[in-house]
Amino acid sequence: MKKIDAVIFDLDGVIVDTAVFHYQAWKRLAHELGFDLTPEQNEHLKGVSRIESLEIVLEIGRINHLTQKKKEEIATKKNDWYRENILKMTPDDILPGVSDFLGKLKKANYKIAIGSSSKNAGTILERIGYSSYFDAVVDGTKINYSKPDPEVFIKAANLLKANPKNCIVFEDAAAGIEAANNAGMKSIGVGSPDVLYKANIVIPDLRNLDISIFDNLIEH
Ligand code: BG6
Ligand code: MG
Repeated sequence: MKKIDAVIFDLDGVIVDTAVFHYQAWKRLAHELGFDLTPEQNEHLKGVSRIESLEIVLEIGRINHLTQKKKEEIATKKNDWYRENILKMTPDDILPGVSDFLGKLKKANYKIAIGSSSKNAGTILERIGYSSYFDAVVDGTKINYSKPDPEVFIKAANLLKANPKNCIVFEDAAAGIEAANNAGMKSIGVGSPDVLYKANIVIPDLRNLDISIFDNLIEH
């Protein structure tokens, strides 16, 4: 008997490789401000909202004199650079293994949702042809607190009428794994075990993935 009610996917870095575009845009901004961003520092930007990411970037560059207006201005500039890339996306940008695995879930009648901190999620889903593919989409326009707060995943579970403890989250961000754990859900990290060590399971990507992976997460 199936004990999983729903499967919730982060978008950036799990369904599509937009985490790279975010990194490029933050790096460009950092360079304009006179410093650099390393891949390790970038891990802290994943999963958190645009404005919180900016605060982290400014802290890394030891920049503490900007007005709120200036911060909003440079966050918008970063977002404009980022959007130049996502507006060019097509269904070919869906990461390997993703559409096969989503197809398997649908065929087996699992409810699926997106749980993303991004305010650009709608644009991305439209570009890749997934606008009406998921049973629920909760994104940065619908939440008050970004990951590691569990709000985004709890909202998705509520929309799907699923019990959080019977939900599985796929995430590429450490903050996202923490959010899933804080929501009382099971978590599958997509990426490096060094970064995602708080996840129940870590996989490198969704290639050749089978639903039987859930067997390892169900409490018997
Ligand atoms: C998350 C990304 O999905 O969305 C973060 O992992 C990003 O890196 C956040 O900062 C907010 O995105 P956006 O598109 O609203 O700037
Ligand atoms: Mg992500």
